Amino acid sequence: MNFLCLIEAKREGKIIAPEQIQEFIREFTAGKIPEYQMAALLMAIYFRGLNSAETTALTLAMRDSGDVLKFPKDKRPLVDKHSTGGIGDKVSLPLAPLLACLGFRVPMVSGRGLGITGGTLDKLDAIPGFQTLLPAAQIIRQVQSIGCVICGQTERMVPADKKIYALRDASGTVPSIPLIVASILSKKLAENLDALVLDVKFGGAAFMPTRAAARKLAQAMVALGNQCGTDTRAMLTAMNSPVGRSAGNWLEVKESVACLEIAKPDKPANAPDLRQLVVESAAQLLVQTQKAPILAVARRQAEDCLNTGAPRKKWDEMMAAQGADLKAFQQKMSCDSTAQVVVEVKAGTAGFVSRCDARIIGEVIRDLGGGRLTKESVIDYDVGVDLLSKPGERVQKSGTLCRLHAADASSAKAALVRLQSAFEISSRRPLSTPLIAELVSGQVSRPRRT
Ligand code: URA
Repeated sequence: MNFLCLIEAKREGKIIAPEQIQEFIREFTAGKIPEYQMAALLMAIYFRGLNSAETTALTLAMRDSGDVLKFPKDKRPLVDKHSTGGIGDKVSLPLAPLLACLGFRVPMVSGRGLGITGGTLDKLDAIPGFQTLLPAAQIIRQVQSIGCVICGQTERMVPADKKIYALRDASGTVPSIPLIVASILSKKLAENLDALVLDVKFGGAAFMPTRAAARKLAQAMVALGNQCGTDTRAMLTAMNSPVGRSAGNWLEVKESVACLEIAKPDKPANAPDLRQLVVESAAQLLVQTQKAPILAVARRQAEDCLNTGAPRKKWDEMMAAQGADLKAFQQKMSCDSTAQVVVEVKAGTAGFVSRCDARIIGEVIRDLGGGRLTKESVIDYDVGVDLLSKPGERVQKSGTLCRLHAADASSAKAALVRLQSAFEISSRRPLSTPLIAELVSGQVSRPRRT
């Protein structure tokens, strides 16, 4: 194929035919197109965009660049959730076992952290022994037997995305809506799902800075997911402050397990926003798959299921199936901190927290070693923040705004100053904004392929 002509055509804003898209994805995956040429095409797409037919063709070609999971027929619907990423966003961890207990099958193929946002696989790697790299046959077996798995893409799943994503990361072409749509949906469609709920984040620490941009991305993904036969919905949620009260890989695992504990009237959820996102994601999927008639009923169903304690047991079952050392896990869970140094960030004055800046907190954690500066970065799973005070909450003078977990005193000292700047305190309670700003839904237009 004459790939140079394609680059020039897109550079001039022309439309690429679906067959040409299929061909270049096949050739690139096979190593027949040099990376510098693919990077040039990605930059042309970044500036010129792709129309919806081109985006569909790219997504399907990427999905078909590798294996698509094939599950036996079963009355339990296949479902998943995907978040565009945020700070402290650990929703997938408690959600997978909850969904399994609600009668779903959940092949949750997840990713690693990007930029300042954390990745589900990095969090799971903090659990002693937990295996995230599983062959397709094991993913299918585990989903059939216990109802859920959280793992990474196999070598043979969507290899085109793996190669293209690395190039986008290195060529400044990540924030392109058609490229994001194709990247996310090619992977989710390779799971062969009946229903998918997306959490598209907007705000200071999200990929999409504004609600309007998030809506555009959500609409494109919902339309394409539905067109491909997977019932797809998106929630638009704000990402200005972290989800929950902890951020950092191990601290987020701890908070996820706490979210699965039974909430009692005298012991309500410690991270109500996390619990709400988990319940809401489950509720959307219950309605999408007609397992509940309306959202209010579905929310009750999800809450009731959490309160039986069954999802907490399912979490242990999933960990054991994926090789975790449950004894070492329990021992680690009982430690107040696994980091060398723990320091409190204190309020300089009494009042209401009016800002708890997720971007600053994400940058601090990344720089402490909790995230990646380069693909080769080695992660420190124990660093992070917990006991976060969230916007709208009252603090006393010298009260705790958060606790910092660091590897040594000098990194803690530098982080402390930056963390202080993440918080603002005002004398009046700030106006609260809804956690879920908007829902984007559509109509499934044809059945799934298998
Ligand atoms: N997550 C992905 O998997 N791909 C993107 O392009 C962006 C977020």
